[in-house]
Amino acid sequence: MNASQKTPVRVAVTGAAGQIGYSLLFRIASGEMLGKDQPVILQLLELPMEKAQAALKGVMMELEDCAFPLLAGMVGTDDAEVAFKDADIALLVGARPRGPGMERKDLLLENAKIFTAQGAALNKVASRDVKVLVVGNPANTNAYIAMKSAPDLPAKNFTAMLRLDHNRALSQLANKAGVAVGDIEKLVVWGNHSPTMYPDYRFATVNGQSLKDKINDADWNANEFIPKVGKRGAAIIEARGLSSAASAANAAIDHIRDWVLGSNGKWVTMGVPSDGSYGIPEGVMYGVPVITANGEYTRVEGLEVDAFSRAAMDKTLAELEEERAGVAHLLG
Ligand code: NAD
Ligand code: LMR
Repeated sequence: MNASQKTPVRVAVTGAAGQIGYSLLFRIASGEMLGKDQPVILQLLELPMEKAQAALKGVMMELEDCAFPLLAGMVGTDDAEVAFKDADIALLVGARPRGPGMERKDLLLENAKIFTAQGAALNKVASRDVKVLVVGNPANTNAYIAMKSAPDLPAKNFTAMLRLDHNRALSQLANKAGVAVGDIEKLVVWGNHSPTMYPDYRFATVNGQSLKDKINDADWNANEFIPKVGKRGAAIIEARGLSSAASAANAAIDHIRDWVLGSNGKWVTMGVPSDGSYGIPEGVMYGVPVITANGEYTRVEGLEVDAFSRAAMDKTLAELEEERAGVAHLLG
């Protein structure tokens, strides 16, 4: 089937004129996310401020200038209900960044307002099958808020981005073991997209052989690998003066591509509402290993949780529960 024969997929992107938006939109429009035969309509949301709308207009002009054959339409707006109208996929990237003197709690509350409103707008106008990926930080709690604010949509449609952490962990492991990054499978990143996350390679394989047998170094795991992956975002900010953008956009594309087109039996990490397994209370938006096929994700079940892992998984859970408690009063 050629591009003109397929029905376009409506992809909403918030924060479309931001850094991540700039690395993301051109790749979506060129078919890297949904396939080289899949037309897309981009529905782009930005803040109403003149500067943000002007920047959005400029990005849309550039998209136009690429003459992407798969770009079947574009909408730029400051109205969430316009951006999310009939959206099949919603990438919630725009968020309030931490300002000077702002506490984490203040950041949570400011973003809670944004994601309550966007969840409600999705609930009202998006496709009933919309696949939502929250990238804007704090990503897990923002995704939880959006999910709770959209009671008419299935909770499973709301996910948070842990894929950047997954990809970061893959590269660190490949370097340490001296293997090709593409040969590593069965990696997990448990929990929150924050320094408390737990990248776990106990089950990982490289060309079918245990990676743990190649990296038999508990000290490196606890004192180098886990903190390095957890603090990688801060290290990028320190080095670049800006937070990660191209790698974040790449991870968002990986996340949605696998969700829609399937992971071919491979484990990938997604932040999803817990079903109560692995001792994670139901509903908590928590990074877990999944396999994706036919537009659905399925948790990898039954993995052993040893004492070290239990402590690490509970630590990141405690942070998520604290964040959840901090916004509970806004969710009714
Ligand atoms: P940015 O500041 O360059 O862009 C954000 C854009 O969002 C801005 O253009 C802003 O005008 C817009 N925006 C803000 N509030 C909005 C709203 N309510 N509706 C619509 N648009 C809105 O930031 P960025 O570098 O693109 O990062 C975006 C977010 O992604 C940040 O919260 C960042 O911390 C987060 N992030 C997450 C991950 C992850 O792995 N989950 C990785 C990197 C960055
Ligand atoms: C990242 O992991 O790169 C970002 O979440 C960091 C940040 O705070 O924006």
